[in-house]
Formats: sequence, C-alpha cells, structure tokens
Amino acid sequence: MRKPIIAGNWKLNKTPHEAIVLANDLKREIVDVAGVDIVLCPPFTALADVADTLTDTGIALGAQNIFWEDAGAFTGEISGPMLKDLGVSYVIIGHSERRQFFNETNETVNKRLRAALKNGLAPIVCVGENLAQRESNKTFDIIKDHSEGSLSGLSSEEMKKVVLAYEPVWAIGTGKTATPDQAQEVHVFIRQLLGKMFNTEIANSVRIQYGGSVTPDNVVSLMAQADIDGALVGGASLKAPSFAAIVKGAKK
Ligand code: PGA
Repeated sequence: MRKPIIAGNWKLNKTPHEAIVLANDLKREIVDVAGVDIVLCPPFTALADVADTLTDTGIALGAQNIFWEDAGAFTGEISGPMLKDLGVSYVIIGHSERRQFFNETNETVNKRLRAALKNGLAPIVCVGENLAQRESNKTFDIIKDHSEGSLSGLSSEEMKKVVLAYEPVWAIGTGKTATPDQAQEVHVFIRQLLGKMFNTEIANSVRIQYGGSVTPDNVVSLMAQADIDGALVGGASLKAPSFAAIVKGAKK
C-alpha cells in the first residue's frame, strides 16, 4: 500500500508573516488528519518560520528547489545542508516552471536530485508534457525523456526515497485538470517505465502524485485512480480551507 502524499507548492507567494498565518490556519484544520503524508513548500524566506509553526505536528516541510553543491562561491543559491538544518525534509525538483523559465534541464534536475538524496532530503521530481507536445501525441515520449534523464544513474535504494509528480504543463494554473483517466494513463506508463529502469518492486512502491489544477472538487476522482498516490497542489494550497479539503479528500 502506498501512503497518499499531498504537497502544497506555494511558489512565489507569501511573505514570512503571511506564511505563518497560513501555516497556523492549516495546522488547525489538518493536524489531526491521519493516513496522508502532508508537505508544505513555502518559499525559502519563509521556511524557518513555517518550520517553527509546524513543530511537533507531523506536517512536513518542503523546499521548492536545491542547488547541487553543498557550499562555495555560488551567489544566490541554497544548499542541501542549509535546508536540512532548517528542518526541511522534502524538496521539489524540476518543476515545469523551473524548466520553462530558469533553464532547468534533465541534467540539472539529476544533479539536484543527487544533492537532495546525499543530504537526506526526499525529492519530489516533476515530469510532464506541454500542450503542443500532448496535441502532437508526444506525451509518452516526453515523460520517458524526463523520467530517464532526471532519474539517470540512481540505484534502486535511492529510487525508493523519490516521489514523482506527473504535472501536465497545460493543466498547471489553468483550471484545466487532466481527467482522471488521462492522468491514470500516464501514471501507469511511468510505473511501467520504472519497472524497466529499476525493478517491479520500485514500480509498485514509488509514489506518483498528480499535479495541475487540483481542487477540493476533483481530488476524490483523481485519487480514486489506482496509480495516483497524491497531489502536488499550487493555487489551491494558498488558502487553508481548500488545501485542508484536498488533504481530507485524498484518503484512499
Ligand atoms: P496548480 O499548480 O495547482 O496551481 O495548477 C500545480 C503545480 O504547479 O504544482
């Protein structure tokens, strides 16, 4: 049985003060929800405050990126040891917005992934096609390319610690969710790929989230799919009632 995992990706939103308010509101609503792993991913500047707010709650803290070196002359970067020291336990890697706006490639995703694992952080690795790629029937090619490139060289032991997120770019922030069938089809494809790249145990045990306009209204039908193990939530994670409803709707 794969335990459902819901992560809120706050993106470039919330000052530290606003983040404390949201984290406290969320805490009240979801602290007692059992059977679902819950991760909040505020911006770097709010990690310390949200970590304080979440102390002893069982709600995990995630970062939205990580640099591949631990320390050195890399102005503006944030490293694994820095995140770990703040109490971060997950890190989103290779989000489509980073691929699209910040030149992220499979190669840099792979370097960040290795840095996360080396520092004991659980990576949430994102893969997904854009609209043009879907419309030209390249979805599976892109998923294969992102998965093989991003996960290249990982051992099975390392892969066990990874969470994957299937995020069709055309569904992110657009209000256009993939249908449960469309998402399930890709999740099955990813599991088959993991079976070939690693082994059957990995294919069956790695958790795969869906992301892209997840709301309280569609989470239950998405989670009803056999191979969807959770959600990576953007917009709906910025309000406590909607994120709490998604967390509650995610119980299998
Ligand atoms: P969205 O974002 O829920 O606002 O579509 C999802 C994501 O980018 O992870």
